[in-house]
Order: sequence, then structure tokens, then C-alpha cells
Amino acid sequence: MLNRRNMLAVGALTLGGAMGVKGLLFGDRTAFSAVNQRVIGSAAHVHGVRPARIGAAPAVAPFSVRMPVPPVLRPMASTADADIYRIDIRPANIEILPGVSTPVFTYGGQLVGPTIRARTGRRVMIRYGNGLDRPTNVHLHGGHVEADNDGHPMEVIQPGRARWYNYPNRQQGATLWYHDHSHHTEAENVYRGLHGFYLVDDDSERSLRLPQGEYDVPIMLRDALFDADGGMVFGGNPAERGTMLANGKPQPYFPVAARKYRFRLLNSATERTFLLNLGGAEMTQIASDGGLLPAPVPRTEIRLSSAERVEVVVDFSRYPVGTQLVLSDGVTPLLRFDVVRRAVDFSRVPDRLRPLPVPPPATVMREVTLGFDMAGAPVGLVNGKTFDPNRVDFQVRRGTTEIWNITNKDSEFGFTHNFHMHLVQFQVLDRDGRSPSPDDAGRKDTVLVPPGTSVRVQATFADYLGRYVYHCHFLEHSSLGMMAQMEIVP
Ligand code: C2O
Ligand code: CU
Ligand code: CU
Repeated sequence: MLNRRNMLAVGALTLGGAMGVKGLLFGDRTAFSAVNQRVIGSAAHVHGVRPARIGAAPAVAPFSVRMPVPPVLRPMASTADADIYRIDIRPANIEILPGVSTPVFTYGGQLVGPTIRARTGRRVMIRYGNGLDRPTNVHLHGGHVEADNDGHPMEVIQPGRARWYNYPNRQQGATLWYHDHSHHTEAENVYRGLHGFYLVDDDSERSLRLPQGEYDVPIMLRDALFDADGGMVFGGNPAERGTMLANGKPQPYFPVAARKYRFRLLNSATERTFLLNLGGAEMTQIASDGGLLPAPVPRTEIRLSSAERVEVVVDFSRYPVGTQLVLSDGVTPLLRFDVVRRAVDFSRVPDRLRPLPVPPPATVMREVTLGFDMAGAPVGLVNGKTFDPNRVDFQVRRGTTEIWNITNKDSEFGFTHNFHMHLVQFQVLDRDGRSPSPDDAGRKDTVLVPPGTSVRVQATFADYLGRYVYHCHFLEHSSLGMMAQMEIVP
């Protein structure tokens, strides 16, 4: 395991010493590179990943491959109140770019892991075997789970070992996802493929008659940088990861019927914010991180930072067969929907979805700051301190409702951060004292925090005791220590 001293040494080597970093006051891109150079430097030392052969990756014309839908995993056994699964974590060579084989890390041999379909109130147990040559663990992002099963950064599965994770699913329907959370290596491991969907189905949603079955499609959006051999290049400037993947394929197309679809969009890029649009066409937002909104909201543009989810219904019945609609990030195409046939549609989007719970009044206020120490090699800080697994940063009494004011202190360098809390879903109260943006609506577990701004969130810390982390979910930043932990106490 990396310790802080050799990380600093690697950082200093990579960056040419502390002076080099201090000199990097040229704005965003250079500073981002500096931060990420340090991550790549340390990663290469620890893991000895095959060196990248720098050069242009084989070019792929947009919309030349079809977007797959990750298969739903079948339980290996089921009991009256639980489903039992097995997933092997292993390296694999996958065809991402047509005709090119790319070495990746996988859940079950797929770049987008198998989808787990859980049900509210029904337990899921998963045995994960680690077939990688490095430690890994599994965190259920957005899951309300016991501390022991949360995938704490220091609780890893050694190579050749296995462990069970136990998820009670005592939470309402939502689009969750699972990913690696090993300390210092989460950015690289997630980047190399350790991510998958975990959908909680809620029987109470059934009566709403939203699109379901094959018309309920999870879509994982992320970026990657490929070298001349088709290998995935980790590190460097995330802004230069120029290949956009939807469900693991580069700018694919997806044939649809002229009817309504429910799309569950996840940004699994380790450090990117998408500005999603459908060329001006309407997307009806029905849910965010923690499940359904109180009412549908028409959107034409949606901001989605790393780890955030948004669910939209798109009604293709407005378009004649033959129409093509492109989902883009700004002007960069991500995915093209091709309307290829007509279809009957008994689904609908009701005016009311699910009321937000009225939270009890908050009794504790806390300040949280996010920022880098750029004095030497960049160090990620929360409230001025880098992550220390032996330190508890906040003690929270179980059952308490709290308001956290999260401030991004990096206005000088222009670093964007976001903020994710384990264990809970929160509600966004305001941004710099003004109303939150439409992107903040509903129950959230991850929220964007632009440079120099603050956002206030309110959460109730129910049920479980123990230690949980909170962190910036730009994983290059949490890898550098922009993470802290709370302990829920009786
Ligand atoms: Cu997506 Cu700490 O997790
Ligand atoms: Cu999480
Ligand atoms: Cu950050």
C-alpha cells in the first residue's frame, strides 16, 4: 500500500519538485494536469500497468456501433426474502473500439458490470471474488447499508480472496451503482472498468405505469483515452480523455421504438461534468440520485457530474420513424437514438410521482471545505486535512438531522469539485444563499460544487452506526486525499 511519503516522492519526481507546482499558475488545464500527474505517477509505481504507447487511438466513426444494454444478473440462489449473487472481479480483454482488444478490469468479464435488480425490502447478498493482481473492494453508491458492508476505503479484498457484501435495500426505488473504493487506487480502478448498475425497484412505483421492461434502459456515460494499441491510458489531464463511451461503446447508436422510454443516466467518468442535451428536444426528468422526484420536470439541458444519476423519460412517439436524435455533451455527441419502428405504448408519466419526505428540523450545522494544498505536490483536503483513516472528522448522533455547508475553496486554481456522502440521501437547500438549480432537485447523494461557491445540504442520519466516508467524487481528487470520515454514534 502506498504511504504518504512515497506518494510525495513520486509526486515530486513527476512534477520536477515543489517549485514546479508553485509555478503552475496558468489556469485550469495546467493545474489539472499537475494534480493528475501525481495520480498517474503513483499508480504506475504501485501496479506496473502496461506502459501506454502514446499515439492516436484507432479512430472510430460516430454511431458505427450499437449500444448494448448491460445484462441483468441472475441470482445463483434465492430465499423467501433474499437474492444471492456471485460476481468475479477480473481482468479481461474487451472489444471497446471495433476490432481492437483493450485490457480492462471487470465485474464478471464486462466493461459495464452486470446490472443488479434489487427490490425494496428484499435483501441482496453478493460474493465478490478478487481475481485482479491488486486489492479492490466494492461500494454500493447511494446504498443505505451497514458500515461493514459499505466498502470503506481501507477494507479491501486481497488478490485471490473473496468476501460477501450484504445489502438490505431498505430504501425507496433508485438508480444506484457499484464501484471500487480502494484508497488511493479508486480513480484508476474505476477508470479501468470497475463500475456497474444496481437498480432498486420499488413496488410502489408500479402503479405509476412508467415505461418498464425493455423500455427502461440504464445508460452509463463515461470517457476514456486510448493509446495506439487500444490500451486505456490513465492519468494525465482528464479533459483529454476524448473518447466518449455509452454502456462501454464509443458514441454508439441505439434503435428505439416510437414510444416512451425511461433512461437512467449515470456519469461514471472519474472526473468529468456532462452538459447533456438532446439537440433541444425535451427530456422529462423523473428522478435524480435517490429516486423519483415529486413531479416530472421538463428539461432540455442537464448537468451531470461524476457519480450523479438522472432519470428521464423521452417520448419518441413525437417523431416519425427514421428520425435520429443525438444525446450530446455540449456539442460532443455521446449517443444517437434511431427511431426505427412504431409501437403501442401503455406507459405514462403521471403528474405526481412521489412526494419528497418532509425532513425533521436540523439541529446541527457543519462547515465543510474542499480544496487542494498546492504548496508542494497537490494534496486533497477536506477542512484543511488530507484523509486519515484513523481519524474521525465528524461525530454524528444517530437520528440527527444536520445541515452541511460545503464550500469549494479552489477559486484560485479553478478546480471544480463535487461532494458525495455515504449512507444518506440529502436535499439541497441552497447555493450561495440562492435557490438550488434544477440539477439539485430531489433526493441526492452527490452534488456539484463549482470553484468559489457553497452549497447547503440537509440529511438525516438514520439507522446505522459506524464509520462512513464523504468525499469529492472526482476520484482523482479523493485518491489524493480529498476525503474525510464521519462516525455515527448512538
Ligand atoms: Cu461512489 Cu464514496 O462513492
Ligand atoms: Cu458512495
Ligand atoms: Cu474535487
